[in-house]
Amino acid sequence: MATLRNLGYLVLGVSDLHAWKHFATEIVGFQIGREDENHVALRMDNFEQRILLQKDDRDDIIAAGWLLTDPAELEAYVEQLRARDVEVTKGDSQLANQRRVESIYYCQDPNGVQQEFFCGPKMAPSTDPFSSNKIHSKFVTGDFGLGHFVPVGPDLELSKDFYINRMGLKLSGYISPSPEVTVVFTHVPNGRFHSLATAAMPSPKTLFHMAVEVESLDDVGYALDRAKAAGIEVTADMGHHPNAKSISFYMKTPSGFDIEILSGEIVIDDENWQAETYQQFSDWGHKPQT
Ligand SMILES: [Fe+2]
Repeated sequence: MATLRNLGYLVLGVSDLHAWKHFATEIVGFQIGREDENHVALRMDNFEQRILLQKDDRDDIIAAGWLLTDPAELEAYVEQLRARDVEVTKGDSQLANQRRVESIYYCQDPNGVQQEFFCGPKMAPSTDPFSSNKIHSKFVTGDFGLGHFVPVGPDLELSKDFYINRMGLKLSGYISPSPEVTVVFTHVPNGRFHSLATAAMPSPKTLFHMAVEVESLDDVGYALDRAKAAGIEVTADMGHHPNAKSISFYMKTPSGFDIEILSGEIVIDDENWQAETYQQFSDWGHKPQT
C-alpha cells in the first residue's frame, strides 16, 4: 500500500506579506527564500521552501503538500486515492515549479484545503544552508516533515473519513474535554505524534493553527520572549500537552490564525501504539496571556 511519507509544505494565503516577513524571521526564526511581488518562501531547513506565503485576502490555509518517496510511490498513491473515490488532478509544470517540486497531484478535502501529493522537493544549494540568528538549536524536520496543522470544518465524521480512510493517515488518538468537542490526531509512518489534527468547531478560518517543532526547549522559551517583547498576542502561554507530551506556546500570526512553537513531541511506534482519549488539552499552562 502506498503511504504518505511526511508533511512537506504548507501554502498560506496572507493579506500582509510585509508583516509576515517580519514575523517569520524576527519572531519565529524562519529564513526568507525565493520571493516575488505576490509570494514569499519561508525556509526551516535545506528545503528551498517549507512554507509558501501567497498574497491573498483569505488569511487562511490554501494547500498542504505531502511527500511521497519517489514517482512510482506517488503514482501508486494517486491510484489508491482514485480507487477510494477521490477526484485527483495532475498538477501542471507551473504548479510544480511554484511548489518547488518535481511532480505533483492535488485534490480538495472536505474543509476547503487543497491536499497536494508530490515527490522530488527542490533543495537549496549546499552553499546556501539554512541560517537563522534566532534559532539556537534547529527545527525538527527531515523525515518528520515540517510540523503539523489543524484544519477544522463543520463535519467531524466527514473529516475523519477523508483524512483516515481516504488519505490513509493513521489515528494517533483523541482529546475530548466534553461530549460536544472532539479533536482527532493523525500521523504518518514517520511516527511524529501528529502531522494533522482536525475537529468540528466554530471557526472563521479553516486553519485553526499550524505548528513547528524546535529541537531544544530553550528555543521555545526564546521564541516566547521574542513574541512578548514584540507585543505579539500570545494566545496560550507555555504549557504541556498530555497526548503529544510536547511543551509549547501559541501566538497569533499576522493572518489571525495561531502558530504553535513546540518541543519534545513523542514519536509513535505503530507496532505497539494504542490510540487513547484524553479529556484535557493541557496538563499545565497554555493559559491565555494576561
Ligand atoms: Fe498543535
